[in-house]
Amino acid sequence: MTLLLPILLLAGRGRVEIDATKLGARIPKGLYGVFLEEINNAGEGGLYAEMIQNRGFEDANLPPACTLEGNQLAAPKEPSFWEGYSKDWKMDWPYAGQGETPSWTIEGGTMRVVADRPLSPASPHAAEIDAKPGTSLTNAGFWGMNVQKGERYDLSFFAQFPSYRGDIQAQLVAPDGRLLASADISGRATNGWQRQKMVLTAEDSDPKAKFVLVFPREGKLLLDFISLMPQTKWRGLPLRPDLAQMIADLKPGFVRWPGGCVTEGITIETRPRWEQTLGPLQGRTPTFVPWGYWVSNGFGYHEWLLFCEAIHAEPLYVFNAGISCAFRSGTYLTDDELTGQIQNILDAIEYATGPVTSKYGAMRARAGHQKPFAMHMVELGNEDQGPKYGARFRRIAAAVKAKYPKIKTILSSWISGIDHAAINAAGPQLNVVDEHAYTPVNWAVQHFDSFAKYPRTVPWELYIGEFATNAGVGRGNMTATLGDAAYMMSMEKNADLVKMGSYAPLLENINRRQWEVNLIHFDSSRVYGRASYFACKLFADNLPDVNLATTVDYTPPPGASIEGPVGLATWLTSAEFKDIQIDGNPIDTDGWKPERGEWSLKDGVYAQSVRDDGDLWSYFGGRHHDMTLTLKARKIAGAEGFVVSVGNAEGRRVQVNLGGWGNRFYAIEAEGVVRQIPGQIQTGRWYDVKIETRGRTVKAYLDGDLILNETLPTPDRVLAISGRDEQSGDLIVKLLNTGSGPVDIDLALKGVTVRSGTVTRLASEEATAENSFSSPHRIAPIVSLLSSLDSLSLPAHSLSIVRLKARPGDHKQALK
Ligand code: AHR
Repeated sequence: MTLLLPILLLAGRGRVEIDATKLGARIPKGLYGVFLEEINNAGEGGLYAEMIQNRGFEDANLPPACTLEGNQLAAPKEPSFWEGYSKDWKMDWPYAGQGETPSWTIEGGTMRVVADRPLSPASPHAAEIDAKPGTSLTNAGFWGMNVQKGERYDLSFFAQFPSYRGDIQAQLVAPDGRLLASADISGRATNGWQRQKMVLTAEDSDPKAKFVLVFPREGKLLLDFISLMPQTKWRGLPLRPDLAQMIADLKPGFVRWPGGCVTEGITIETRPRWEQTLGPLQGRTPTFVPWGYWVSNGFGYHEWLLFCEAIHAEPLYVFNAGISCAFRSGTYLTDDELTGQIQNILDAIEYATGPVTSKYGAMRARAGHQKPFAMHMVELGNEDQGPKYGARFRRIAAAVKAKYPKIKTILSSWISGIDHAAINAAGPQLNVVDEHAYTPVNWAVQHFDSFAKYPRTVPWELYIGEFATNAGVGRGNMTATLGDAAYMMSMEKNADLVKMGSYAPLLENINRRQWEVNLIHFDSSRVYGRASYFACKLFADNLPDVNLATTVDYTPPPGASIEGPVGLATWLTSAEFKDIQIDGNPIDTDGWKPERGEWSLKDGVYAQSVRDDGDLWSYFGGRHHDMTLTLKARKIAGAEGFVVSVGNAEGRRVQVNLGGWGNRFYAIEAEGVVRQIPGQIQTGRWYDVKIETRGRTVKAYLDGDLILNETLPTPDRVLAISGRDEQSGDLIVKLLNTGSGPVDIDLALKGVTVRSGTVTRLASEEATAENSFSSPHRIAPIVSLLSSLDSLSLPAHSLSIVRLKARPGDHKQALK
């Protein structure tokens, strides 16, 4: 009793009313899909089960049309589609310093890459080995190979033996030298390439093994396309079973592929080509993806279609609209060249859906799939923007509709918001607009009603092709999950407009994390889903057919006061600060702790001089609160103004941004914009800045004028939606408590009688907790029977999914 008392005292109280007689929007069965892109080695070294990295000895190639400038890969210096001038785009060449044969090492002999005896046009390079007795050639796969006792591994390679005669031993070896598997193969003189095949059976296990070819004799030989695949497949497909099953368990309505930025390519020449991913593996041209690595395309267009079919998901291919990534080079196909790209898109659709009597339908049939695949939608472009893109979309969509009138065409939009300029130019064949929404901590909770503000009189539907709460949430903690759950609840609630959504990115090989927050983490042998993975799964498992009117009555407790260090920062700008005082007391200028940037102090002026990077902070520690901060600030050069932070609230840095967003706005931010107004900072002019904090209120003055006055909204909310599953009659209620204390909810039901129910909870006392390899279920769903049908306790930081066995008619006892 004594233990329970404090908890009871802390619990808040609220009421959720559901009126089952008032129906809301119908919810499409395929609302939630998955976004599968080759980023973070999601496919190569991930879902695709090939264990050898650089199997075709092609990874040292430069992507088509690109050149090397020092250690940097440079795009052709051509005008970009959007800006009209060359972006002079470069990236660090990821294979710099790895020689001709990345991922391969040789000991005791020599190896060079030759191109005079191409195995195929797609795999023109081969390794020429000059072996001595005992030479070994090693490949460690993708950060180690998961070799498991009893598993059989299919090894195959192509070889020529100009002078090497005798056996070659293939081995799987643990890092501690244990031999896990071995088999011999003999090298014989041949004319041209000869395919060698063998099976390696593992007699012991290790998750970080490597593949070794040992040559006991002397002589020259050529090797190409060395492949090692476990015989255990996932439903007959060359996929890693644990990863494929994790995806299948999400019951996705669709699988969006190949991107993302991958769709666009770093340059137009590097865009993915579906037709180059078909047929024998050694005949598939690799693709250099914008995330900086080569992909061998073993998981190609056909395999993706098979995967979609296996998990009963709609295929959603995203075609390049003749424009490469605007963040990279933005190079593009001319309007004339676009004709070929349009034909290519039509051919791809024919491959998937055409009869066996059609050219590409016959090709599909020869690949083993007589029956056409289902394909009901295509996307044309990724994150392209503006009227010029809209006009391209119009042209491509018209051609698609002319041949395939029933296929829905999706226009891609920019990140955060829809692009009206592109939409207006897109023409009558536009069915769906794809918005991308990467949002910071608490944004989705605070903006639960954002979709309600979208126009409803438009002739298109909305698809949120990439969404995630992914800033200020560690690598994806419980706060991120609360944001993601809030976002999905708002999509579901607004399903009259939002017809599809996919969390992004889906997969992360933890050895190549290229995006801050991803849904599923894995290495060579292990996998776990973040708490948001479980949230996505719960939403898919509990998708009603129709929304029911739901209201929440809950007053959150007042949030914490703003408290903590003060900070100064610039973004793409150099600036100076002086006369810094807290409550009239000058700050000891030695107390500043620079975090990023070049900070220096001279004659009482504190300067940040780097202007080619952002988020360049220096902090003055302490638990400052309810204070008045005054300072003078001057922009020296660069794209923006300056930023001053005044402490934290719920772990979020609270800052006043003066001249942000390309020097166009002033704003109060708390890892997300609280209030933004137009405003500029002039170069070279000293400004008087005064910022007051009182509790959760921030007032910012510039040259004596009050420009911003905001009270931070508390992130503690109770959100609820409900709907009916028509087949079972179940009432499904989704409730979110984002606060740090429990909330008791009175559940009031109208128009429905309830007999029993279950509640599935995803909760974490600690908002910053994350799942990990060692605690993959630290935050995982727990199901229990409902003890009361009238009230419910929502734990701190929790998602609760209540399923009530229900039939029509008033539930009098529960109705208050
Ligand atoms: O999901 C990662 C990237 O985010 C996608 O490639 C791109 O479309 C978006 O900007």
